[in-house]
Amino acid sequence: MSNDRIDSILQEERQFPPPSAFAQLARIRSASELAALRERAAADHTGFWAELARKELSWHTPFQTILDDSAAPRYQWFKEGTLNVSYNCLDRQLAERGDKTAIIFEGEPGDTRHITYAELHRDVCRFANALKAQGVAKGDRVVIYMPMIPEAVIAMQACARIGAIHSVVFGGFSAESLKDRIEDAGAKLLITADGGHRGGKIIELKAAADKALNHGCASIEKVIVYKRSGHGVPMQTGRDVWWSDTIADQAAQCEPVWVESEHPLFLLYTSGSTGKPKGIQHSSAGYLLGAVVTLQWVFDIRDDDVFWCTADVGWVTGHSYVAYGPLACGATMVIYEGSPAVPDTGRFWKVCQDHRVTIFYTAPTAIRALMKHGDAIPARYDLSTLRLLGSVGEPINPEAWMWYHRVIGRERCPIVDTWWQTETGAHMIAPVPGAVPTKPGSCTLPLPGIAADVVDEQGNSITTANQGGYLVIKKPWPFMLRTIWGDHERYIKTYWGKFGGQYYLAGDSARRDQDGYFWIMGRIDDVLNVSGHRLGTMEVESALVAHPRVAEAAVVGRPDDVKGETIFAYVVLRGERPPGGIDHALTEELRLWVAEQIGAIAKPDDIRYADNLPKTRSGKIMRRLLRSIAAGVAITQDTSTLENEAILLQLQGKQ
Ligand code: WT7
Repeated sequence: MSNDRIDSILQEERQFPPPSAFAQLARIRSASELAALRERAAADHTGFWAELARKELSWHTPFQTILDDSAAPRYQWFKEGTLNVSYNCLDRQLAERGDKTAIIFEGEPGDTRHITYAELHRDVCRFANALKAQGVAKGDRVVIYMPMIPEAVIAMQACARIGAIHSVVFGGFSAESLKDRIEDAGAKLLITADGGHRGGKIIELKAAADKALNHGCASIEKVIVYKRSGHGVPMQTGRDVWWSDTIADQAAQCEPVWVESEHPLFLLYTSGSTGKPKGIQHSSAGYLLGAVVTLQWVFDIRDDDVFWCTADVGWVTGHSYVAYGPLACGATMVIYEGSPAVPDTGRFWKVCQDHRVTIFYTAPTAIRALMKHGDAIPARYDLSTLRLLGSVGEPINPEAWMWYHRVIGRERCPIVDTWWQTETGAHMIAPVPGAVPTKPGSCTLPLPGIAADVVDEQGNSITTANQGGYLVIKKPWPFMLRTIWGDHERYIKTYWGKFGGQYYLAGDSARRDQDGYFWIMGRIDDVLNVSGHRLGTMEVESALVAHPRVAEAAVVGRPDDVKGETIFAYVVLRGERPPGGIDHALTEELRLWVAEQIGAIAKPDDIRYADNLPKTRSGKIMRRLLRSIAAGVAITQDTSTLENEAILLQLQGKQ
């Protein structure tokens, strides 16, 4: 964010009170009930969280200290307590919900499976025993690179059961990205599959894993391969073992390993403004508490719900609202393996209809993509079981919000627009649907116990309505990240540096309207949001300059109706610039190159070649200028400080 004040141009006046039919049955059914919770949290911040932790989690040993901030910002919650996350998700459901369906799975080809809590418990125990037999112990890192199938959840739960720390790598990431993450985590074991189904094709996971392992990953001792696609993959003797063989002789019971509250449950890599992804480290107790309370407050989860969060387990949403939260609440959830467009763009609505989904949670980019195909497709499906809709990943534009409300929710279902991050672990700013009126495009108000604020450059709270500033969290919360794996300094610098260690800096800009509602305005750092996924501009730039023909590259986001942002790259080649700045073959080669290096989601949509990049006389790339050029809007920046004004025409594609 530059020094100038950010003012919002968006003004949205519509407001939707909680539908009374919804509010009557909701867990929190009125503004006053919610206000009471907020007041309790405001009066005694740590006491509020401690009470919830005692009530909502099953402890092996109770905690004594609620919050230890003696080494802040390394906050420790519920110290001395011990518990097991998998026990909290599975064992405690057995008595009352053993025969209840935990997972309804639908593969992209149309295959379905129903897994009860008792069966899931058995499968997790078997696989946990298998992991132990392969030499995995408490504290070891295990990388999971799987399709979106129940075994991905089983693998995560099995790690949790024995205190191993998992790090899930999204199946859409390339071999190169997988290798970087395995090496940074120092993982001992990799769990993958032969292939998964996505977009009518097979995603070659084992092939990518082999490629990663052939180029490094010295810490990996074993690779467990689940057979999903069945298309035949080579297995390396001594290293690779089939999932089915590893569990063949394993017992259906596995005593959970009781771990300390702060024991890392998982690492999850996310992009930052520098090239290297950050291994966000989450705790066991505090993290799980966040998933549980937000499922109650924001998703209003009930025993008879069928909950469907469409996120892949490769993202934090697939951790909190697929792998852990719904199970810890004893819910029934849907897992769908594939693309929303196979066999046609009615697939999501068909899954909702066929499995009688009651709560549906997805990303604005998916909503916009499906909205493009019109109202007639969703109208073909019976969506009458739906009672609540959710959105996450980026600001949802009011037009998409209204479509979601009208065409999917049939004007009956509240929409919860949930603001949070990989780092925050669970929802932070989101409506409590039975109590908070919603406004299209706003994530509404912070949840009880979440001290969110908007501050200026000096850290002072901005009280003027609609004036933008930095989104910060002023008090620690139980489900916050604990550190960046292997780089505590970077953790301190990134999240706590700006305001002298006092406030957590989210990296987003935001404003509050006259009612105190939060409106997220975008990132303040060089991070793109492509289809709801965070990508560092530096990551894409590093990938480009790793190509032998590229000397320099600058990457910016260009606003896009469906994806939120697309990737626009400005490239300076070694040697001559192609005539007229056009070289289609090279452009295609560079796009594929980036996909190889990072994954298909990072492919630049546009590449423009110039003799050099626009820099100030002090050598800084003028990114705001590049963003204006990419967006095709008039250049309002002062270009007189440019080293070489003539290249503007090249960058604009006019020469
Ligand atoms: C960034 C976090 C949290 C899971 C998915 C993304 C943006 C997320 C919203 C929302 C406006 C949002 C922010 C945030 N974001 N949800 N409801 N409204 N912006 O997780 O990859 O860690 O990205 O996504 O910019 O900082 P993530």
